Amino acid sequence: MEDVKVVGFLGLGNMGTPMAGNLLKAGFSVVVWNRTKSKAKPLLEKGAIGADHPRQVAEKSDVVITMVADASAVREVLLGPDGVAASNRRGLRVLEMSTISPADSIGIAQELSRRGMAMLDCPVSGSVKAAADASLTLIVGGDPSVLESVKPVLQAMAKNVFHMGPNGAGCYMKLVNNVVLAAMLAGFSEALVLGKKGGLPPQKMLDVILQGSARSPLLEFKGKAIVDANFAPTFALRLMKKDLTLALATANEVKAPMPLTSFVNELHQAAIAAGLGDRDFSAIAQVFDGLAKAG
Ligand SMILES: NC(=O)c1ccc[n+]([C@@H]2O[C@H](COP(=O)([O-])OP(=O)(O)OC[C@H]3O[C@@H](n4cnc5c(N)ncnc54)[C@H](OP(=O)(O)O)[C@@H]3O)[C@@H](O)[C@H]2O)c1
Repeated sequence: MEDVKVVGFLGLGNMGTPMAGNLLKAGFSVVVWNRTKSKAKPLLEKGAIGADHPRQVAEKSDVVITMVADASAVREVLLGPDGVAASNRRGLRVLEMSTISPADSIGIAQELSRRGMAMLDCPVSGSVKAAADASLTLIVGGDPSVLESVKPVLQAMAKNVFHMGPNGAGCYMKLVNNVVLAAMLAGFSEALVLGKKGGLPPQKMLDVILQGSARSPLLEFKGKAIVDANFAPTFALRLMKKDLTLALATANEVKAPMPLTSFVNELHQAAIAAGLGDRDFSAIAQVFDGLAKAG
């Protein structure tokens, strides 16, 4: 397989923009496209090449990365009328990094394969800070030889790359990961309410937790956001709700009981109903605060 010189990047949101920025820093030519054109401007100013639609990105690139919201967005940019598949670039490698279900990912990979293109599912763990520091963890499903051929591209954005198995296995692992994240923040939020009712200062509670065996990078980062009531989004709550829904649908297919995740999912539903969907997923704490006030 040829070396990668030009990388196309579709989806310049909270994650895509810093990830594409790191590809530029690593010396790749980067061709960018975003549905809302204005979001491409900072990268164009740093030397990225613009494109009118995903098909044009594919025509100019050796590898195309997608980092968009959900499966319907992935279908649109890869399989839509002006999508990547319409370029008919046989041999093109596609790295699909959005969080979507294993079933959707496998279906899209098969569709691309019929057109002579190889897709890896390659969702990411780590938030905006890890995207900016090029310290993401990438969780890959698909052909290992394709993975080997794109390693320099992945290493420009990540500190860890795990190959989990065939197509879909990366997405599957990503859902496992996010089930843990959502449950941890819900547990922390509930515990904080108990402490506040007992008159304990939130910051001091966090300090104690971070010195004990419950400490974690998640709580260092998001626990602080909750204590400070700073819910500016780095990972929108509506996207975490999407992932919980995908995890539950997948669990249904494989008959894995998920009583805890079902409950955490309902809490996220309540958060969205309360208008918190575009806030950070740590805003789940506001649902617990609301319950405590009502009680
Ligand atoms: N943020 C995190 O911490 C984090 C961490 C790991 C994984 N993820 C996952 O990574 C993906 C991107 O997350 P993000 O935080 O970067 O999301 P975001 O900031 O909301 O950006 C979403 C991107 O998807 C594009 N998009 C949405 N619908 C589209 C459509 N129908 N056609 C074309 N483009 C469409 C948006 O374009 P517009 O600009 O036009 O709206 C935007 O570029 C999601 O699957 C998320 O679950 C996020």
